[in-house]
Amino acid sequence: MCGIVGAVSQRNIVPILLEGLKRLEYRGYDSCGVAVHQGGGLKRARSTSRVAELQAQADQDGIASGTGIAHTRWATHGAPAVHNAHPHFSAGPAGSAEAVGQSVGRVALVHNGIIENHDELRAELKARGYQFASQTDTEVIAHLVDHYYNGDLLEAVQQALPRLKGAYAVAVFCRDEPHRVVAAREGSPLVLGVGEGHGENFVASDAMALAGVTDQIVYLEEGDVVDLQLGRYWISRLDAQTGRYAAVQRPVKTVHAHSGAAELGPYRHYMQKEIFEQPTAIANTLEAITGISPELFGDGAYRVFKDVDKVLILACGTSYYSGSTAKYWLESIARIPTSVEIASEYRYRDSVPDPKTLVVTISQSGETADTIAALKHARAQGMPHTLTICNVATSAMVRECELAYITRAGAEIGVASTKAFTTQLVGLFLLTLALAQTRGQLSEADEAQHLKDLRHLPVAVQAVLALEPQVIAWSEEFARKENALFLGRGLHYPIALEGALKLKEISYIHAEAYPAGELKHGPLALVTAEMPVVTVAPNDALLEKLKSNMQEVRARGGQLYVFADGDTAIESEPGLHVIRMPEHYGALSPILHVVPLQLLAYHTACARGTDVDKPRNLAKSVTVE
Ligand code: M6R
Repeated sequence: MCGIVGAVSQRNIVPILLEGLKRLEYRGYDSCGVAVHQGGGLKRARSTSRVAELQAQADQDGIASGTGIAHTRWATHGAPAVHNAHPHFSAGPAGSAEAVGQSVGRVALVHNGIIENHDELRAELKARGYQFASQTDTEVIAHLVDHYYNGDLLEAVQQALPRLKGAYAVAVFCRDEPHRVVAAREGSPLVLGVGEGHGENFVASDAMALAGVTDQIVYLEEGDVVDLQLGRYWISRLDAQTGRYAAVQRPVKTVHAHSGAAELGPYRHYMQKEIFEQPTAIANTLEAITGISPELFGDGAYRVFKDVDKVLILACGTSYYSGSTAKYWLESIARIPTSVEIASEYRYRDSVPDPKTLVVTISQSGETADTIAALKHARAQGMPHTLTICNVATSAMVRECELAYITRAGAEIGVASTKAFTTQLVGLFLLTLALAQTRGQLSEADEAQHLKDLRHLPVAVQAVLALEPQVIAWSEEFARKENALFLGRGLHYPIALEGALKLKEISYIHAEAYPAGELKHGPLALVTAEMPVVTVAPNDALLEKLKSNMQEVRARGGQLYVFADGDTAIESEPGLHVIRMPEHYGALSPILHVVPLQLLAYHTACARGTDVDKPRNLAKSVTVE
């Protein structure tokens, strides 16, 4: 993943670069760094702590300049250590013609993505005398640009890029051209920010990094190279026919990006705040809904919905679980066959495409590389109808899809997805109703009842949040465990999966989820008195079956922690702990049942003292394959 910011200006841009980095930490936070053109050479500061520490280091070292690049890293090649942190400097071949009169460090470069042929390039560059200071794939690009440099940075970058295989967004500057930054993208996001004074121009991984600095944004396209100089910029791309780079025009859009900065208020962590924001996020997502119609998903949706007879959902992680939940709704309410696929698997599978499929991607960020690639794969296979449920209106996913429903969860900062998940479920339920309507499966009375239930959701979620003290009591037990099982059936099996993902992601407790009927086919062997078994047990058609599965756990000494409805005859007893949900909620019950699981994960993680909002090894937005 990683986040990039770069700038050319007549004023000192270091504060802007560092502020941009803070807003890009959702893309990774293993390490960070900034490099500037200063005193006729390259100067940098790098840190394996957070941006605040980098800022202190930069202040102490007097780093200030009008030209610079900065980076926040999610490690792929090479451990999260200072020597692997970006920006990387080229180390020219000592004694070679191009190195005469040069100090080490002519080119500074930051990179987001993965260079697949880095081993081969490393061997070639080593043979040319380049010295490597890191284990990263990125460093080869810095040396490669240096190798091609002959007085013009743009030309050097344009020569280097065709040698790279893989995905990248890069930003680079050179000691010999003090007011110039060149940047390029292929497979990783990058925007150009057109400056509003000081002759300045910017590049960044997203527009949010530049909020408050400029709202004039150019979304660079795959293969674009941009040359930033004082008061001007120039975009070019390789023309396949001539084999030469040629100028291209891209529209400048006014983007009112949110800085992402949010006050914690009374909360300890963003995750806790975001859990408690769910009633508002759901209400906002439903705000404009006065009735069900395909047009909620964009112009032309009716024609598309009429033309499809199946749904294929593509997503990753938590978004995959919202899709898995929606499969139950789409099949039982809209009566449309639905498959749900993990995006990273789908794109490499030899599947059977059907042009009458509605391809639905689900993504909080709208930038997840696996999901975008799966979407493109589906389209390339001959499935033209695409729709996304996404939380970021300006994202690549929204731009790529024919139709969209934008959830209004607001900026989600905690790595663990919470309010994005519940608002995705709301969007998917609306999609279910719109498809049901188009297919003649939704009576007016049913539509009215579903809308009433949806509108009551914010109040219902608020009531579930009031269970927090009871969940905290459980979390103290969980904090002492190293394993946990989650059980659910039917519509609530994906909710059990999501509960297990939340717990493992932020508390580092090993957690797995099963459809409860599957327990006896293997996982029951794991059950001992040390194994807490969380059971999502709404009062639905599968409850009696679920109760039998719970007996199987009790008989082996397992400790059951059950979320049951108020009218269910499941009583607490030794080894059986029950929290009663405030109300039974029919088809929308998954949206309520996930909330105590989020709280359980959150409070367990707090009790274990983990970094809840930035759990180890993860990033908020996963923009590499
Ligand atoms: O931005 P997306 O919804 O596409 O992200 C997909 C997953 O990376 C994400 O849901 C991840 O699983 C969450 N961090 C889990 O809490």
